[in-house]
Amino acid sequence: TTLTVLDNVPFGTVSGESLFFALRIERPEWADWQPGQFVMLRPEGWALDMMWARPFSICRVSKRDLVIFFQVVGRGTKRLSQLKTGDKVVLWGPLGTPFAVEDKTPTLLLAGGIGIAPLVAYAQKHPQPWNLHMEFGHRMPLNCYPFESINERITAASHLERGPEDLAHFLDLVETSIKEYAESDGLVLACGPTPFLRAVQAFAAKHNARCQLSLENRMACGVGACLGCVTKTTEKMTAKGVAAGRAQACEHGPVFWSDQIIL
Ligand code: FES
Repeated sequence: TTLTVLDNVPFGTVSGESLFFALRIERPEWADWQPGQFVMLRPEGWALDMMWARPFSICRVSKRDLVIFFQVVGRGTKRLSQLKTGDKVVLWGPLGTPFAVEDKTPTLLLAGGIGIAPLVAYAQKHPQPWNLHMEFGHRMPLNCYPFESINERITAASHLERGPEDLAHFLDLVETSIKEYAESDGLVLACGPTPFLRAVQAFAAKHNARCQLSLENRMACGVGACLGCVTKTTEKMTAKGVAAGRAQACEHGPVFWSDQIIL
């Protein structure tokens, strides 16, 4: 589907440079979507050497628009950061397995950096503020996310300013929260870079928490064909009929139970 860009707003400026963007485009004609699912997106007319679309978690879908967050990490996302109102993008989705939804279950949302996007989607689609608890560890100002309703719901947050001690402090917060939710049979949902997810996975195993992780793997096709997004899996995944030892993050994920994958 070809859709029009409504706006592309920078946020979370670091050292004078805008690294994060909220891209708002017109709403696709979707019957339904679920938090944790993603879209593949590229600017229309993308040059041949940059022909691959990129995967982005769905952050918000309203009557009028679809929003994704992205971080400038390379040439492709740099190009996306230059999109302006009225430009066209090619998009397909919604793709992938969404987060589990358990109404009335205390749910801890853990975000590492831009991994907050699908958790924003979750918080907006399942608005139970007393069950939601967000933590994020990126070096950006607190409460900088461009949705006030979400900023109000962040009940604990940490951001990294000074380096290793801040990171250790943040991971302490994460572990304490996971332990607390595990004790009340809550659910833990996390998204962020692999080292962050690895830490969450280890804490979840240590405290026997029910935990789902949304991977940020690189993807090329988005539909299970190119094997560019393969992740190692445990026998828990094999039991579900997926080929022994590996699964495509785009097709079988990006959301997995934490005991189904090896990071
Ligand atoms: Fe091609 Fe997952 S991106 S198989």
